[in-house]
Amino acid sequence: MVPFDLEAWLGEPQPSPIVQAGASVLRQRAFEVSDAMLGSPTLLRLVDLMVEVMRAAPGVGLAAPQIGVPLRVFVAEDDEERLARAAPEALELRGRTPLPLMVLVNPAVSLVAGAQATFFEGCLSVRGYGALVPRAAAVQVKAVDGHGRPLSAMLQGWPARIMQHEMDHLNGTLYVDRMISRSFACDAELGRLGALPVSEILEELGVPPP
Ligand code: CO
Repeated sequence: MVPFDLEAWLGEPQPSPIVQAGASVLRQRAFEVSDAMLGSPTLLRLVDLMVEVMRAAPGVGLAAPQIGVPLRVFVAEDDEERLARAAPEALELRGRTPLPLMVLVNPAVSLVAGAQATFFEGCLSVRGYGALVPRAAAVQVKAVDGHGRPLSAMLQGWPARIMQHEMDHLNGTLYVDRMISRSFACDAELGRLGALPVSEILEELGVPPP
């Protein structure tokens, strides 16, 4: 059985817009990529398309379900140029360090026990909003790339958050399922809120202490 015909999908007009919350493809568990697909022109075309859509958005990560493809693939990148546009203190606080382009196929993301970090997070599939989301401060990632070459990495800070967010997409989970719901905010307020210490945001928005 072919759970999803990627070749037929790629034959349709491209690029697809980024799928928005409410679409069922964002709420299902994505299918494993078969060994036969690894390194195939079809899979490599999907990866190229995902990188293009992520950069154009722009975003720091994109999972295949976000363009309507229910396969276990995501891409991530947070380059120096983007980082240069943010305030150094904000980068430091979030552990936002450069993340070279990563292509992860059939990934496993294990949370490293211990420290957590809570920051505002958004999603290209939930346009116009953000919320505080507690995440593990470090993760171990294992996957193969588009060619089937194994990769393994220990990531911390913002790159670790990106991995957790994108991995959730492959399991049908959105950040809104994990957010501190009272912190849910529109873009119009996010610039202001994002600059405040988390303790002040929680107080201002009336989040009860744990
Ligand atoms: Co997302």
